[in-house]
Amino acid sequence: MTTDLIVTTSSGSYPVVVAAGALASLPARLAALGLRGTLWLVSDAAVATAYGTPLADRLQAAGFRVQRHAVPSGEASKSQDQLWRLYDWLLGAGVERRDAVLALGGGVIGDLAGYAAASVLRGIALIQLPTTLLAMVDAAVGGKTGINHPLGKNLIGAFHQPRLVLADTETLASLPRRELCAGWAEVIKHGVIRDAGLFSELEQLAAEQDWGAGGFRGWQSADARLTERLTAIIRRAVAVKVEVVSRDEREQGERITLNYGHTLGHAIEALTDDWALLHGEAVAVGMHAAARIAVAMGLCSAELVARQRRLLQAYGLQVALPHGLDPEAVLAVALRDKKVLAGRIRWVLPTALGSVVVRDDVPEALVRAVLAS
Ligand SMILES: NC(=O)c1ccc[n+]([C@@H]2O[C@H](COP(=O)([O-])OP(=O)(O)OC[C@H]3O[C@@H](n4cnc5c(N)ncnc54)[C@H](O)[C@@H]3O)[C@@H](O)[C@H]2O)c1
Repeated sequence: MTTDLIVTTSSGSYPVVVAAGALASLPARLAALGLRGTLWLVSDAAVATAYGTPLADRLQAAGFRVQRHAVPSGEASKSQDQLWRLYDWLLGAGVERRDAVLALGGGVIGDLAGYAAASVLRGIALIQLPTTLLAMVDAAVGGKTGINHPLGKNLIGAFHQPRLVLADTETLASLPRRELCAGWAEVIKHGVIRDAGLFSELEQLAAEQDWGAGGFRGWQSADARLTERLTAIIRRAVAVKVEVVSRDEREQGERITLNYGHTLGHAIEALTDDWALLHGEAVAVGMHAAARIAVAMGLCSAELVARQRRLLQAYGLQVALPHGLDPEAVLAVALRDKKVLAGRIRWVLPTALGSVVVRDDVPEALVRAVLAS
């Protein structure tokens, strides 16, 4: 048994549970939170049958009323159309203020269902039940919800903190390896920005395993002891997000450090078509470039870049700019990024493992040189 992680916010605090088999505890936890209204379970088509059905049965057996809705898998579902379908379903079946939305799925479901919960009837309770590694360590914690607009990703949304985040790592067994590896990028990122011990644990695990050139093999190939260790590592990575968002709920300061690797990562993602690179894959490339920029600025050692590169590769990630991608175009998109302040990019750069600084004085020529080499 591990203790819950706790996010503290201006509107109260909420627990974040990371454990194998955690979904079994959901009925008791909802009862403890005093949530006795209807539960509106939103899931992704990929998880609706495998996890949604047993979960709904378990909740009903515990006396809860459950309504269910499945959304097509994929980023395209973070749309006005899918949001409106959720409103039609919720309002059409009589949602009430005391009810709760349960978001069971990856970051797409968490963001979409989270925004529906934030806005329907001016806001009802939200429970995040992440089933991808990325959603566990990043998207489900911190209260950011929203959908995409034709003019850009995540442009419509709201901060709406969940009442509970419950990450059952057993659900990772069905996640495709590529999606898992994309999630490892965020885990490694949390090590670099705040927790050198987490970084070392990841290194040690990789050194002990015989994963070969392709790196991490996937959850399915792991035995019980390994999955237990991976769960502990994931929990440690989630703790980093919990600490950061507790200190900076609305992204006024420290939360920007979570964007390590994202300035160039977002640009690379925007320039490659939807399926070329997953978000975490693009972030891995962005982290490698950011660390090299830090070396060129005299902020950290070349050894950090090498260790980070080896670790990213051990967890199945590439660090080179995808073949054929024009560095000039990447820089141009990065300059347009919404995190640009008064025309300057705010770079999150490592100074040592577990420590970063934010700098807005990185010369464009230096970025260009790093991207081109
Ligand atoms: N709110 C935030 O703070 C925040 C932070 C980071 C990312 N995000 C958002 O998260 C989204 C990406 O999240 P994601 O990577 O989880 O993508 P996703 O939700 O699209 O899930 C990835 C794929 O895995 C499938 N899947 C999910 N769980 C599964 C399981 N257990 N077994 C088998 N298949 C499963 C999904 O159907 C999908 O095809 C983006 O929209 C991004 O903007 C939000």
